[in-house]
Amino acid sequence: MNRLDGKVAIVTGGAQGQGEAISRQFVAEGARVVIADIAKEAGQALADDLGATAHFADHDVSDSASWARVVEDANERFGAVNVLANNAGILRFGDIERQPAEEVELIWRINQLGCFLGMQAVTRTMRKNGGGSIINASSVEGLAGMAGCTAYAATKWAIRGMTKCAAMELGPKGIRVNSIHPGMIDTPMTRVHGGDAAMEFGASRVPLRRVGHPADIAPLYVFLASNESSYINGAEISIDGGVTATHAFGG
Ligand SMILES: NC(=O)c1ccc[n+]([C@@H]2O[C@H](COP(=O)([O-])OP(=O)(O)OC[C@H]3O[C@@H](n4cnc5c(N)ncnc54)[C@H](O)[C@@H]3O)[C@@H](O)[C@H]2O)c1
Repeated sequence: MNRLDGKVAIVTGGAQGQGEAISRQFVAEGARVVIADIAKEAGQALADDLGATAHFADHDVSDSASWARVVEDANERFGAVNVLANNAGILRFGDIERQPAEEVELIWRINQLGCFLGMQAVTRTMRKNGGGSIINASSVEGLAGMAGCTAYAATKWAIRGMTKCAAMELGPKGIRVNSIHPGMIDTPMTRVHGGDAAMEFGASRVPLRRVGHPADIAPLYVFLASNESSYINGAEISIDGGVTATHAFGG
């Protein structure tokens, strides 16, 4: 018996980074998985590698019509969707004085609106088919502040807040909604901002003295997707090596 037998999951941003690890572990635990991403080549290659219980869908989370297509396709292909990993996101650093409004809006559209549209798109299916689990990717930037990160952090705080509201609204319908808050994770998103040097600096600030890896994150998604977490709803779970365990003078 696998931990995710009977689960039909959509993993947004599933083609690389944390999403790839989530997709791989979901399939390994018995789920049928739609890898939903704008990265066509990487997404298709991953689906091919994972075999018949994985499928790639070319999907832009900021587009509601795209959401309708991906949910309908998943329902027809694998059965009613009962897990959504709302993982897709982009990171753009920018000073308040200089970050262009267009970039702020792009971050908002993908991270925040995309998360909302995902919850909206799966709710009817989940409600009609015995419930489900929605896992929203926030960040430690949704728990505290970081200079040069206002636009991104705004979306991650919003995801944390939307998760609480959705948990209240959807709980009575059998749908659990939780947010996860990774610290610095070694993925293409973070590597692009300084490579190994950035990772070493990041590691030096973490109580566990290392940055996280996608393989550290995926098991939490498996747990929240599975029935093992059946009484966890509206929770925010940090997975950060301890960086949010202290305050500014904590050393
Ligand atoms: N890496 C970190 O340190 C870190 C820390 C905390 C939170 N997060 C969050 O975790 C999530 C995954 O991040 P990651 O590190 O794996 O990033 P990543 O950049 O490695 O992967 C993100 C994936 O999202 C996809 N994507 C981007 N825009 C999309 C869109 N409009 N529609 C569909 N897919 C889209 C990309 O193609 C990519 O496959 C993000 O929400 C990110 O904000 C990351």
